[in-house]
Amino acid sequence: MYMSTDEIRRAFLAFFESKGHQIVESSSLVPANDPTLLFTNAGMNQFKDTFLGLEKRNYTRATTAQRCVRAGGKHNDLENVGFTARHHTFFEMLGNFSFGDYFKQDAIKYAWEFLTVTLKLPEERLLVTIYETDDEAFDIWNKEMGIPADRIVRIGDNKGAPYASDNFWQMGDTGPCGPCTEIFYDHGEHIWGGRPGTPEEDGDRFIEIWNNVFMQFNRQADGTMEPLPKPSVDTGMGIERIAAIMQGVHSNYEIDIFQTLIKESAKVIGHDDLSNQSLRVVADHIRSCAFLIVDGVMPSNEGRGYVLRRIIRRAVRHGNKLGAQGAFFYKLVGPLAEIMGTAGEELKKQQAIVEKVLKIEEDNFGRTLDRGLAILNEALESLDDKVLDGETVFKLYDTYGFPADLTNDVARERGFSIDEDGFNEAMEAQRQRAREAGSFGVDYNNAIKIDASTEFCGYTATQGEGQVVALYCNGEAVDSVNAGEEALIVLDNTPFYAESGGQSGDAGVISAAGVKFDVADTQKFSDAIGHSGVVAEGAIKIGDKVVANVDIARRQAISLNHSATHLLHAALRNLLGEHVAQKGSLVKADSLRFDFSHLEGVKAEELREVERVVNEQIRLNNTIETNVMDIESAKEKGAMALFGEKYDDEVRVLSMGDFSTELCGGIHAANTGDIGLFKIVSEGGIAAGIRRIEAVTGAGAIAALHAQEALLSETASLVKSDAASVASKVGALVAHSKQLEKEIQQLKDKLAAQEGADLISQAQEINGVKVLISQLDGADNKALRGMVDELKNQLGSGVVVLGNVSDGKVGLIAGVTKDLIGKVKAGELVNLVAQQVGGKGGGRPDMAQAGGTDAAALPAALESVTPWLAEKL
Ligand code: SER
Repeated sequence: MYMSTDEIRRAFLAFFESKGHQIVESSSLVPANDPTLLFTNAGMNQFKDTFLGLEKRNYTRATTAQRCVRAGGKHNDLENVGFTARHHTFFEMLGNFSFGDYFKQDAIKYAWEFLTVTLKLPEERLLVTIYETDDEAFDIWNKEMGIPADRIVRIGDNKGAPYASDNFWQMGDTGPCGPCTEIFYDHGEHIWGGRPGTPEEDGDRFIEIWNNVFMQFNRQADGTMEPLPKPSVDTGMGIERIAAIMQGVHSNYEIDIFQTLIKESAKVIGHDDLSNQSLRVVADHIRSCAFLIVDGVMPSNEGRGYVLRRIIRRAVRHGNKLGAQGAFFYKLVGPLAEIMGTAGEELKKQQAIVEKVLKIEEDNFGRTLDRGLAILNEALESLDDKVLDGETVFKLYDTYGFPADLTNDVARERGFSIDEDGFNEAMEAQRQRAREAGSFGVDYNNAIKIDASTEFCGYTATQGEGQVVALYCNGEAVDSVNAGEEALIVLDNTPFYAESGGQSGDAGVISAAGVKFDVADTQKFSDAIGHSGVVAEGAIKIGDKVVANVDIARRQAISLNHSATHLLHAALRNLLGEHVAQKGSLVKADSLRFDFSHLEGVKAEELREVERVVNEQIRLNNTIETNVMDIESAKEKGAMALFGEKYDDEVRVLSMGDFSTELCGGIHAANTGDIGLFKIVSEGGIAAGIRRIEAVTGAGAIAALHAQEALLSETASLVKSDAASVASKVGALVAHSKQLEKEIQQLKDKLAAQEGADLISQAQEINGVKVLISQLDGADNKALRGMVDELKNQLGSGVVVLGNVSDGKVGLIAGVTKDLIGKVKAGELVNLVAQQVGGKGGGRPDMAQAGGTDAAALPAALESVTPWLAEKL
């Protein structure tokens, strides 16, 4: 039964919905709040905190089609892509999840029903693996599902360490994990390969299609297994693999999505052998690149952006190998958005931006690609052994933008490898910089781990009573902190807003009798809210009852900026178009910053219009309404959700009249009129296709206007005018100064002509040729050229050498009339003098200039010209 990939995706989600699962949207490829993870690499990532019991959701069963990227991080498939049937940088994982609801039995039943009833796969083609000691799973498969024992393979810790098994799934070195049962599909005897657990298991005959993980533990950094609050289920089925089966093909590259992309790639590159592996590379890479950009990743030199850059460059190199002329990669975005069906909707909306980002990156790399390849080829040809040295790999990286894996790719095709250690050594300096800039690798479990949860009462209050439930000093949990110490305090209840959604954390004071803690910032740690600051007075210990007071003026300034951000966002979309999507936001007390996708600079008149519209909305003084509802109702209401953002099931919908409706957990003004005034202070580009606007509101806007006014009156007083006529006064001054410059130039020319005439009288004759050698002091070096031309004219035939000392520096110029350049060249002449005054120069045979540093040596150097010329002329 043939099914398209899009049909399979829809059938899977519908099947699990019919089994009581909530369909949850794929989360962003950039994991929310998880610094241990470079990219989302499995369906369960967005539910990590739910498995750990740190986050509550209003459903216990969920199903998703999750976009995943495995490149550059722990699971790095980049180098294999294109050369195997099933490695991809980007793939989609279909999954069903139970959070303490059903466990092994139902997970197995559902998987079997979907495969054999919905997809109608023949049972005899399927076999399963279980974790060696998981008798419970064996019994369910064997006794309840009727799978014969010889089609249930037990896999132990075959990778050498406890729990190091294909049938014990772990997200990473730490985090949720557990034993799993995997379902394999037998592609048939005609394909080489053995059953799982046999030496031939890596062959392509038996392919794992579905992994059902029984989440039971939270693995700690030291390797211990802490039981999860409730046993849960996490399953994952790569959509490309199941599509291959449903479409009767063996390689993932033969499924509908890849066939389309391979054909389109061939078309834009201008190549007709569809079986070429480079086309597979390009077809694979456009998927990760396009979706990473959709999720806000931009090519750069570090972190996620660098992985994206590496993938783009690898694709461009493969296209180039097939003879692509000019940028081609970006042209695949449209076809990709189309073929991805329901998973391509957001890409369609952002198509123009994604194309632009890719095209700029391609153009930039295209400029150095050929030169870099030539250098690489030369280096490979001159190699005595088979390893390319690290220095060359680094040079290619540093000068020609060749990521090491791209160099490796080219080297590998020619039977060489690269000296990675040597390259890494050369990279150490850059690496250090990247580490300092806070790149990835912070261990989630090693970061402050706070199990407490805090009730937030700050939407309506700025003061509240609470009890200290946890205390940290220097990153360690402590029982008490004393005056003068920096600490982090967790309360059971607080009005302090913890930084999120771009809104800065609150500041203020936490106090009790004889105790004062100055809060400088507030941050979230899972469900706990941490106040960081300094103990100003007394000591604080766990269990203390305290009063928390938010700095009201600061909070108010922040909330005005936050509400204005929503108005700005809506105004930009209205004026510039629906493609405007929020790419970043920072709401502070003194200003707001808003990053958004837009292809070109926002013009001055557009900015003025945005300001006008936002201020109009402020004057309308609409009530800023907050309604809490479930996410589906919010979307029906037309609330703007940020793509890729992680939302709870219950969301807050913020509306300001009909003008703006947005999902937002932040704190806002009561009425738009509270904002008072909105003023943009800057607009600029921060990356390809991303603009940034900075603005101020309320008192901050007035202060900005005052600062401008002060500048204006300072300028006015400098030109002895007033604000009203300062522009015409400055205009007149500029015109006047231009006129003066012109007159000065005329005078200088006149003076030079005069000096020239004076100089002529100093001319001597050497062998019948008129020669003028002279030292001027304090002349304008630029004017010397004109002077020499003038002197040559007056001499008719002759040689001129002028030296000039100005500001302690020597300027030299020599001129030879055309009839004499057969005998004397101005360049030689000027160098004769220059050498003696510590300089060097050059120029045409009839005119040459030089500079020097040794002014004291100039007279003697000029004297040496006469005997030299006497020989030449
Ligand atoms: N987390 C498991 C995997 O990635 C199942 O979804 O294989």
